[in-house]
Amino acid sequence: MSQTQPENPMKSRMEQAKEMKDEEKLYKRDGVLYSSILSPPETLDKLKDLEAREDDVILVAYPKCGFNWMVGVLRKIMNASTGKNEAPPDRPPLVEFLPPDVQQKLSEMPPRRLLGSHLHPDNMPASFFTKKPKILVVFRNPKDTLVSYFHFMNKNPVLPSAEPWDKFFSEFLAGEVPWGCYFDHALAWEKRIDDPNVMIVMYEELKQNLPMEVKKISEFFSFPLTQEQVNSVAEQSTFNAMLENSNKSHSNMGSIFFRKGEVGDWKNHFSEAQSKEMDEIFRSKLAGTKLGAQMKYDIYCQ
Ligand code: A3P
Repeated sequence: MSQTQPENPMKSRMEQAKEMKDEEKLYKRDGVLYSSILSPPETLDKLKDLEAREDDVILVAYPKCGFNWMVGVLRKIMNASTGKNEAPPDRPPLVEFLPPDVQQKLSEMPPRRLLGSHLHPDNMPASFFTKKPKILVVFRNPKDTLVSYFHFMNKNPVLPSAEPWDKFFSEFLAGEVPWGCYFDHALAWEKRIDDPNVMIVMYEELKQNLPMEVKKISEFFSFPLTQEQVNSVAEQSTFNAMLENSNKSHSNMGSIFFRKGEVGDWKNHFSEAQSKEMDEIFRSKLAGTKLGAQMKYDIYCQ
C-alpha cells in the first residue's frame, strides 16, 4: 500500500474540470444531460449492477433541493443512534458519481450504508425499489430550486456557466440542465407518494421546523433517538452551523454548496413574466396532485 495519502477524488476532478471547455462538461444520455467528469457513461452503465440492501438509507433529491443538508442530517442521526462518530467520507454519497471500481466495493461496506442520488427514479439502480430500502426524497419549490441551480452552475467548475439568467431560465423549464427536468422528477415521485418505503420532505418545511422533521426522518429509518438527540442534530444542522463546518465537510466547495439557505430568494431574480410562466407550468403539471399540495406552491411561490 502506498505510504502517501491518496488525493481527494473530488478535488482532482475539480482540477480536471478547469482544463475543460464549457461545451465539453456535459453530455446527453437518453435525452438527459450529465456531467462528463462525474457521471461518464461507464459509471452510469455500472449502476444497473448496484445491489441495494433492505437496510440501506437512501437519500434522493433533484439538484439544489437540499441534498447536502439532508446528508448532514442523516449522518448526524446515524452517528447519534450508533454512538459512533464516523468522519464523513471524502466523496458525496451520490451513486452516479462513483466510478465502477468504487461501486464494486459498495458490497463490502458494513450496514447501514448511506446512498444518495439525483437521478430520475427510472434511471436509478432497479434494486432501490425491488429490495425495498427506505427512500427519503427531498423537494423544494421550483422557483428557489431554479435560482439555486443558476448560482451553483456559475460557481462549480465541473459544470458549464449558466449565464445569462434568461437563457438558464428557459433551459431549466425545458429540462436542458444536468439530471433533467424538475417537473419530470416531481411527477415520477408523485406516482410513488403512497409507497410506505418512500417519504417525501419539503425544504421549506425543514426550514420551518427542523427538530420535528429530524424526528420524523429518524423514525422513518428506524433510528431511535431521544428528544435531546433530535434537538442536538437540529441545532448542528442549521444553515449557519453547516456553513461554519463546510470547510471540513466540503473543503473548498463549502461556500458554493451553502450559499444562502433561504426561502423566497426567487423574488430577487424572477421577472413578473418569468414568475407567471413558472406558475403556468406548475398548474399544468402538478396542480391537483398530492406532491403539488405538499409543496404549498401558493405560499412559497406567490
Ligand atoms: P441556496 O443556493 O438557495 O442557498 P443541494 O445540497 O441539493 O445542492 O442544495 C443546495 C441548497 O441547499 C442551497 O440553497 C443551500 O444553501 C441549501 N442548504 C444547504 N444546507 C442548508 C441548511 N442547513 N439549511 C438551509 N438550507 C441549506
